[in-house]
Amino acid sequence: MGSFIEFFGLKDDPFKITPDIEYFFLSQFHQEALISLNYLLKSGEGFAVIVGEPGTGKTITLRKFIHDLPENVEYAYILFPNLSPEEMLKAILEDFGLTDEVKDKNLSKNKLLSILRDFLISKKNENKKVLVIIDEAQNLPVETLEELRILSNLETDKEKLLQIIMSGQPELENKLDSPQLRQLKQRITLYVRFRNLHFDEMVNYITYRLAKAGNMNLEIDKRAYKLVYKYSKGNMRLINLIMERTLMAAYVDGSPTIKPQHVESAAESLNMIEKTSKNKAIIAVSIILILILIVAGIVGYTKYLNTAQTAQTTAQKSPPIPTPAPKTQKPPTQPPEKEEELSNIKEEAVVAFPVANLFKNPDNNAQVVAHLKRGEPVKVLETKDNWIKVAVKKDSKIVEGWIPSSHIVLKKDSPLPTESAQR
Ligand SMILES: Nc1ncnc2c1ncn2[C@@H]1O[C@H](COP(=O)(O)OP(=O)(O)OP(=O)(O)O)[C@@H](O)[C@H]1O
Ligand SMILES: [Mg+2]
Repeated sequence: MGSFIEFFGLKDDPFKITPDIEYFFLSQFHQEALISLNYLLKSGEGFAVIVGEPGTGKTITLRKFIHDLPENVEYAYILFPNLSPEEMLKAILEDFGLTDEVKDKNLSKNKLLSILRDFLISKKNENKKVLVIIDEAQNLPVETLEELRILSNLETDKEKLLQIIMSGQPELENKLDSPQLRQLKQRITLYVRFRNLHFDEMVNYITYRLAKAGNMNLEIDKRAYKLVYKYSKGNMRLINLIMERTLMAAYVDGSPTIKPQHVESAAESLNMIEKTSKNKAIIAVSIILILILIVAGIVGYTKYLNTAQTAQTTAQKSPPIPTPAPKTQKPPTQPPEKEEELSNIKEEAVVAFPVANLFKNPDNNAQVVAHLKRGEPVKVLETKDNWIKVAVKKDSKIVEGWIPSSHIVLKKDSPLPTESAQR
């Protein structure tokens, strides 16, 4: 597994998913985040929040920020903060090196607070700034978040003693919206949002990581980049996962350049392809079922209206509650049942391939029951994995059989599920 590294002339795996700041890439928003955090630090005031979906680089950016902190700053970095207020205070004090002071398990919250306050005042006297950085802050209980606000209020008559940076996934934002945290929210002076990379940023990111790991000239097909973007949506952690597997696939293929099929096989090995096409099939089938229900509803309602009308002309009063009219009252103008079923077929789906086989069973080796042409209308009956059972009119008979779901599309302008299936 390791030898793709040598094959591509690398000195290291360029796409490790650990937040290694050696590989830190300064995209526009990562840069803005760092500038803002440094500004906050200088101003000495307030509370910062970073919010972003998983894998957008929050942790690695905090690490970079910490790495570059000036000497006069002391910080505590809390990573797994599913902590009660007391546990959090203890964790902060321990991270500041006050392990002996907090050894006693029964310290009250007030005692912990006073130890912290003494520590902060001593740092202030040394002319030092103190930061508390909380990562994965979406896991903090509301009471602990509220406790953080109290900490951020610790001050001397002139200055704040402590600054706080919180980073977390979007649930953090929802938590901060809760009414108990209104005061905390008011104290937030810096709000930074992380996002996925755009296509061009992704290309630069990949090139940058490859160069860092020792290969500045690896040739990557433009279509391969497009596929990486398609599967990752620009999410940095996903880009890394896909690129690592892609390099392996190219290595196994003995190919010095990265081609689309290598990305496809990477995505497949990460189960990314199956998932999206399954989702697509599920959504397509749901849309088709809804269409069938709507059409059936309209047909049924029209029938009912017709029969109700006939009933009204024969009876003096219409019945207070509509009941289905007996079959004998069916107006003679209705077309026969069979024709209706056939006319429904036009509404639902069409064959998307120039020529497609209709199989007896959902299996490429099964008996072929009909050949379908592009544009031919079919009616969807049921689905199984990536297969769809359809009915189609052949020589005024209805033939039923199975077709790969990728071979048909919804008719008219039915939205094919692309975007919603992407997550
Ligand atoms: N700016 C960046 N430069 C280099 N690599 C990055 C950058 N941002 C993200 N990455 C890569 O993506 C991976 C995921 O980033 P990170 O762990 O920082 O995400 P996160 O936003 O903290 O995600 P989570 O919410 O799941 O904790 C990192 O390990 C790193 O490999
Ligand atoms: Mg993180």
